[in-house]
Amino acid sequence: MPTYRVAILGCRARGTAAARAYHAHPKCEVVGLCDLVPDLLNALGDELGVTARYDDLDSMMLEQNPDIVAIPTGTEFHYDLSMRILEYGVHIDVEKPMCATLEQADEVLRLSQQKGVRIAVHHQGRTGAAMNAVAAAVQSGKIGDIRHMNASGKGYYGGYGLMNIGTHAVNAMLRITGPCRSVTSLALTDGRTVTPDDVIPSAGGMGTVLGERITATLAFDSGVTATLLQQRFPVVDATAYGFEVCGTEGRLIWKTSGAWWLRTPHFLPDGKNDQWEPLPITQPVGYDADSGVSPEEYNYVEEYVNALDAGREHECSGVQGLHVMEILMAVLESSAHGVRIDLPQKIRTHPLEQWRKESGLGSPREMPREYRSWLAAEDARLGRS
Ligand SMILES: NC(=O)c1ccc[n+]([C@@H]2O[C@H](COP(=O)([O-])OP(=O)(O)OC[C@H]3O[C@@H](n4cnc5c(N)ncnc54)[C@H](O)[C@@H]3O)[C@@H](O)[C@H]2O)c1
Repeated sequence: MPTYRVAILGCRARGTAAARAYHAHPKCEVVGLCDLVPDLLNALGDELGVTARYDDLDSMMLEQNPDIVAIPTGTEFHYDLSMRILEYGVHIDVEKPMCATLEQADEVLRLSQQKGVRIAVHHQGRTGAAMNAVAAAVQSGKIGDIRHMNASGKGYYGGYGLMNIGTHAVNAMLRITGPCRSVTSLALTDGRTVTPDDVIPSAGGMGTVLGERITATLAFDSGVTATLLQQRFPVVDATAYGFEVCGTEGRLIWKTSGAWWLRTPHFLPDGKNDQWEPLPITQPVGYDADSGVSPEEYNYVEEYVNALDAGREHECSGVQGLHVMEILMAVLESSAHGVRIDLPQKIRTHPLEQWRKESGLGSPREMPREYRSWLAAEDARLGRS
């Protein structure tokens, strides 16, 4: 018998992925769908056989009484929608990044704690089978002690890539290293150090960003350091995304598609131990590879079910989601001011909006929301077209 009644608020690409995963899990039942676009609502409802369809979230909440509400909407809506759903005293599963500012994420977390409900922030890579394989390899001592980690994005414009992809990479690294204590970052736009004029609204409604190419150094409480690269490539290349864990006795690579192990700490083409070996990947019991559901999505739902059953937090909890936001904001703040930012930062307002204010500038001008048009507008600002 399903234990958790799940409602989906937003039925486009990410809502569809989430709905399929909850629908496939034996302990969940998708009881309601909500979207402002009837075609999306009907396509997903017809696919999953869900007849309770709404364009008003309050009606859905009152009539369906869900236990979990997934919020797979544009990032600029995460705060308002999370707050509205949490008021009903219901667990949420909000897409990444958790919010657009730290102030917002603080409030969302506070309200969930007041209401005694859980938050999962949808960084599905952290609970995927590839990540489980890396974590198990680290724990079993396959690479000795960790020295350093390197993470790369997909080649989007740096500030946008940070909020969009960096959020996944940072969250995944937190599983390996534990909390981060400081961030130092350098951002270049058009090959020069950024200025307050380079502060712009992000594509995709992901807040305020800067930097075409960002190189950040993260220092963790464990003493490990990491390099986080979010650099614009001439062409976006999703295969660049992932991270490497460098240990005293070997190395590991994590990608969403798998995990690999090198038996030596420093690659040497000596013909003996110079091959990257795939780590065994184990999908969760009950996952059906023919179901059309992504295994990472299924794992993520499985983790929420297990966490709620046990009365504990999801691996990608609100606390973790907030800490990811602290790191992302620290990358932006350090890029602006050229100084190390110690965490958790006391000032929770957006550091770049503050920087513009201090520089006597108003809000940045509006930019298109869609990434390609956004990039074209930024290139035009930089005099490239
Ligand atoms: N986890 C991942 O791998 C991953 C990948 C891509 C995007 N994302 C994240 O997913 C989010 C965007 O997802 P998307 O591209 O499916 O979203 P989208 O913004 O394209 O679509 C969201 C849907 O929600 C609906 N919606 C918005 N507000 C609503 C409201 N108040 N009531 C009812 N319906 C409402 C819209 O009509 C729309 O159909 C972003 O936060 C992004 O960062 C995550």
